[in-house]
Amino acid sequence: MIVGIIASIVAYIPAMIANSLAVVFGGRYIIDGGRCLAGKRILGDGKTWSGLIGGTVSAFFVGMILAFILNPYLEMYGFPTPGIYIILTLAFGALLGDICGSLFKRRLGKERGANMFFLDQYDFVIGSFILTFTLFHEWAKDSYLTGDRWIALILIIMLTPLLHRGVNIIGYNLGLKKEPW
Ligand code: CTP
Ligand code: MG
Repeated sequence: MIVGIIASIVAYIPAMIANSLAVVFGGRYIIDGGRCLAGKRILGDGKTWSGLIGGTVSAFFVGMILAFILNPYLEMYGFPTPGIYIILTLAFGALLGDICGSLFKRRLGKERGANMFFLDQYDFVIGSFILTFTLFHEWAKDSYLTGDRWIALILIIMLTPLLHRGVNIIGYNLGLKKEPW
């Protein structure tokens, strides 16, 4: 029982780290190319192709390594398939959610990097779960809703903002990030 909950949380790591890794690889090839919509930037300078692709690929690799080491004990994913696709979906979904968050922030007139409570912490959680529940419904349901696995979902929802904030403060102090949020 407890092993199942741990497996569901560990399985979510690719989504949790994708954003932080985007900070490391980001900064090149701005996605909206500087374009505006109704006088405001579409996404802003903070969303780049290098962040999206670099974040997805590196989070995928970390997820794969974790899965190879831990999957035999925790059974996080069906391996090799659909496991590898699930890891990719979790990472990419997180960064897609982050992009949607920026789209929303720009529509509200908030500048790049402006602090926005809830959206900054949860856009990627929402994005990763929506995409994963859509593409791998059975796996997502079994991992985060069935039986006592809802506990894993609640823990992810509770722990993610703390982790996100902690990593961002480190990134800020290392000079990788412009704001500590
Ligand atoms: N980043 C990137 N490409 C992405 C996501 C993030 O290059 N797809 C990099 C950018 O350098 C960005 C940093 O990671 O500045 C931090 O990401 P985030 O906090 O999501 O962006 P912000 O700059 O705060 O912009 P926004 O207001 O749009 O959230
Ligand atoms: Mg931000």
